[in-house]
Amino acid sequence: MDKVLVTGGTGFIGSHTVVELIETGYDVVIIDNLCNSRIDTLDEIAKICGKKPVFHQFDLRDENALNAFFEKEKDISAVIHFAAFKAVGQSVKHPIQYYDNNVGATISILKAMAIHGVNNFIFSSSATVYGDPDVLPIDESAPIKPATSPYGNTKQINEEMISDLVSSNSSFKAISLRYFNPIGAHESGLIGELPLGVPDNLIPYLTQTVGGLRDVLSVFGGDYDTPDGTCIRDYIHVVDVATAHVAALNRLLTGNFLERYEVFNIGTGRGFSVLEVIASFEKSTGERVNYQIVDRRPGDVPVTFASTTLANNHLQWKAKRSLDEMTRDAWRWQKNLKRGD
Ligand code: NAD
Ligand code: WQD
Repeated sequence: MDKVLVTGGTGFIGSHTVVELIETGYDVVIIDNLCNSRIDTLDEIAKICGKKPVFHQFDLRDENALNAFFEKEKDISAVIHFAAFKAVGQSVKHPIQYYDNNVGATISILKAMAIHGVNNFIFSSSATVYGDPDVLPIDESAPIKPATSPYGNTKQINEEMISDLVSSNSSFKAISLRYFNPIGAHESGLIGELPLGVPDNLIPYLTQTVGGLRDVLSVFGGDYDTPDGTCIRDYIHVVDVATAHVAALNRLLTGNFLERYEVFNIGTGRGFSVLEVIASFEKSTGERVNYQIVDRRPGDVPVTFASTTLANNHLQWKAKRSLDEMTRDAWRWQKNLKRGD
């Protein structure tokens, strides 16, 4: 079976994707510098799928290390590139660090792939590129809006670089996957999202509140033009995001694509409000969420959810897991984290 390099493979989405790749039969090699993940994740992956992936720890921007890696790990068929910083608020405070890591690491890996003749690339993009959409559901032809954060801008810049590279090199093929709101954790409770400091995102904040690490969950804004007044997002189980990568990889490697650069939304196609997420959490776990509605958070888009037609038809992939499964699995992971940390 083909050998695949997964950058950022010990991270949240990367680790779940590694599991799905191994379970599909792919040979997986990870590069991660562990700036936002733990080495033990490799053992947890092995517990889930019976095989520990090969691991190389270094910063992708280290071009010498990357070239040495490709010399050693011959026959890599494709790269799935997750490695990046992802905290929107931090990117506003430290923009150059974000451009350096999120654009720099992509340049570094694309240069090394060119040198070593690896021509299949899957990139982690984000629904953030759509900004506040004019039309719902959002399909892939929706305009890219000016980024509202350096983080969002790095996703746009990366997509443009990849598109330019495909235009310039007729052997190179790429797929960008624009994730909506990945949440949840593997149902084993062994891998999940590692919180770094005070979480910005809804689910880690919610699970930490119920877990006693935070006092109260602030629901940002109760006066939006939505049925219950709170913002609506397309939450998707991280395992469904992971299986989308296997589908995208199969598409690239079988040559079964329409264009050498393709972009797909990765969502469920259904939006849920913040209060619906809280209600789902309470129903699926039996726990009560202490929350209060506060002012809107600047920059929040009222409603986003994906059109998934393209991904459903072309990747032959569909998100399967319900919101209740997402909240249940997120809580199981949080409880395990509390024991282990
Ligand atoms: P994560 O932080 O859990 O994983 C990223 C991994 O990359 C970490 O293990 C980190 O140690 C590693 N890394 C970062 N910079 C590196 C470098 N220079 N060299 C080597 N390793 C490096 O994040 P995640 O949630 O798994 O996100 C994965 C990708 O998906 C990112 O590109 C992110 O921007 C994108 N994305 C995430 C979300 C989300 O909500 N989680 C949504 C849309 C897009
Ligand atoms: C979801 C909803 C908040 C926290 C971000 C990035 C995006 C992508 C995914 C990487 C919103 C509300 C949140 C809280 C709340 N990441 N909320 N209380 O903002 O949709 O997307 O993560 O690419 O780029 O911007 O996700 O989880 O922060 O918020 O009420 O404590 O929950 O207002 O409606 P968001 P989120």
